[in-house]
Amino acid sequence: MKRYTVNGKGLDGLQREESHPPGAPRRGEVLVDVRAVSLNYRDLMVADGRYGGEQNPPIVACSDMAGEVVEVGPDVTEVKAGDRVLNAPFRCWPAGTMNNKWVKTFVGGNGVDGVLAQQIIYPSAALVNVPEHLTFCEGATFTIAGLTAWAAVVTHGKAKPSDWVLVHGTGGVSIFALQIVRMVGARSILSTSSEAKAEIAKREFGVTEVIDYRQHGWSQRVVDITGGRGADVVVEVAGGRSLGLSIQSCAYGGRVSLVGVLDGVKSMINVRDLLRRQVTVRGILMESTEELRAVVYAYDVAKIRPHLSRVFSFNHTVQAYEYLRSQQHIGKVVIDLMAV
Ligand SMILES: NC(=O)c1ccc[n+]([C@@H]2O[C@H](COP(=O)([O-])OP(=O)(O)OC[C@H]3O[C@@H](n4cnc5c(N)ncnc54)[C@H](OP(=O)(O)O)[C@@H]3O)[C@@H](O)[C@H]2O)c1
Repeated sequence: MKRYTVNGKGLDGLQREESHPPGAPRRGEVLVDVRAVSLNYRDLMVADGRYGGEQNPPIVACSDMAGEVVEVGPDVTEVKAGDRVLNAPFRCWPAGTMNNKWVKTFVGGNGVDGVLAQQIIYPSAALVNVPEHLTFCEGATFTIAGLTAWAAVVTHGKAKPSDWVLVHGTGGVSIFALQIVRMVGARSILSTSSEAKAEIAKREFGVTEVIDYRQHGWSQRVVDITGGRGADVVVEVAGGRSLGLSIQSCAYGGRVSLVGVLDGVKSMINVRDLLRRQVTVRGILMESTEELRAVVYAYDVAKIRPHLSRVFSFNHTVQAYEYLRSQQHIGKVVIDLMAV
């Protein structure tokens, strides 16, 4: 069986290797033929050693896959052989609030093997069926990006019809967020550094207004666009300097879903902005399998497809990582294990 491992020492440490098949599934587990894997910004951090440092021994890369169930272990009721499935990011977080035990089951980092292998064993309770209208490549994009966007906009953002939702960037989480904002009948303001991507976002994802996060005074632009009201929800993928400005751009009672660190892990915020506008900042760590089922269900009912930027073959995994790092993408970057 072929797989890719990472060691936390850069993309040179992303190695393709032969290994033994994983064997038979135990109680509550299933054996899955992996068909597609999607990349996340976290995969770059793990490869670079910016997430959990050096991986010694190296771990199997990546966290998001879709594939076909080959064999089920004893007591498995959720899925059967032949089912098309996608995985939750945590091997164990069925529902409710995270805890110290479950947090260690996040795959593809911190010493826990990921899913970029031809076969994996996964707990059946952490698998969700891929909707019929979606391909394996599309199904593989929900695990982190789709789930996180759902958590940011719906579970914790509580966006309602006619709300204004500010979304930063056009990466994996952000494009899912734009689709979900439209699904709930809210209005989106996209902040992007790219005019070309802004045009695509307006055309394909119903973005109402566009701003540029590199331009001074963008928080005031958000307040102006919303007629002085401010954003009801912010999907904050940047952290760093962006967080304080996102808080300033909020409506009274606004909710900032703090997702990412593209602009750094240290922020300076003006406490007065939080107090005066009664803003809530909520840290997001993806969500539980229950919430993953909810977002996949919503895409199934609405017959919407996740947006794929580019699909690479298994042999071109290193190029897929490099493409993600170049930030040319809009939406998701996927590795198709069936393509050579
Ligand atoms: N907490 C969680 O559960 C969770 C889950 C998923 C991701 N994350 C984090 O969320 C972030 C995004 O992840 P992703 O996988 O969606 O990344 P991604 O696909 O690599 O997104 C990259 C895009 O982000 C935008 N961007 C870059 N720097 C920015 C900045 N300073 N301010 C605003 N936007 C910026 C750019 O969009 P433009 O080209 O349009 O400018 C860029 O193309 C990462 O920090 C990741 O670690 C956290």
